[in-house]
Amino acid sequence: MTPRVRVFPDLDRASAALARHLVERGLEARKARGRFRWVISGGRTPVGLFARLAGADGRRFPWSDTEVFFADERCVPPHHPDSNFRSAWESFLSRVPVRRSRVHRMRGELRPPSLAAARYARTLGAGAPSSPRFDLVLLGIGPDGHTASLFPGSPAVTEVRRPVVAVPRAGQPPYVPRLTLTPPALSSAREVCFLVAGADKSDAVTGIFRARPPGDPRFPASCVQPASPPVWFLDRAAAEGLPSGRALRSGGRG
Ligand code: 6PG
Repeated sequence: MTPRVRVFPDLDRASAALARHLVERGLEARKARGRFRWVISGGRTPVGLFARLAGADGRRFPWSDTEVFFADERCVPPHHPDSNFRSAWESFLSRVPVRRSRVHRMRGELRPPSLAAARYARTLGAGAPSSPRFDLVLLGIGPDGHTASLFPGSPAVTEVRRPVVAVPRAGQPPYVPRLTLTPPALSSAREVCFLVAGADKSDAVTGIFRARPPGDPRFPASCVQPASPPVWFLDRAAAEGLPSGRALRSGGRG
């Protein structure tokens, strides 16, 4: 499965291109199924993308027909500075006409975390962990190759049954328990897009692309294997380790 790779001069132009891509995918999903079911990730990388979508770049986005889900969450209350929900709410969700009832927050404040994971699984609906649930999943990766809260060495990386699990200890700050969608749930999407920037991630990108067989738990992002190859939006620094022929180098328009 050859991933589709687009490389841009910088994160801003990668974000501009991904914003256009998301708008088109959202409109296609609404036309085909009346709804755009979109999973978003936390972290710093997508903040510029979200700001674009809250502005002119999101003018055609089908907000009123979009359902937002979260790839993962820290086990903190929604107002906590570490909350992915808070970050997304402040970045764009509070500034676009998405219906509040269609923003499906992971309840990180619930205890035990396993209860929060089970409740979120119910939010996702019944069916096999790999049944198509989402139109598009937006993911980032860490320098260790993690994605969502699927960290190297975590049993969550090889979970095959449940769509959502609790992670007792994160593999990077904040070292709090987390909730995460599992590879079967993430892989059930019609499309997975990764947005990755920075030289600190180039080794992880290279490791993920070299993972043999595809799906090496040492690089958890490689265990996300949708039916159609993931689409990678990279800046040049993150793509540094890729063979030049591997990536479609997108010019200045981004
Ligand atoms: C989280 C994210 C996580 C993130 C990567 C990249 O909850 O932190 O879901 O998987 O996407 O760690 O984070 P940065 O974009 O901040 O580098």
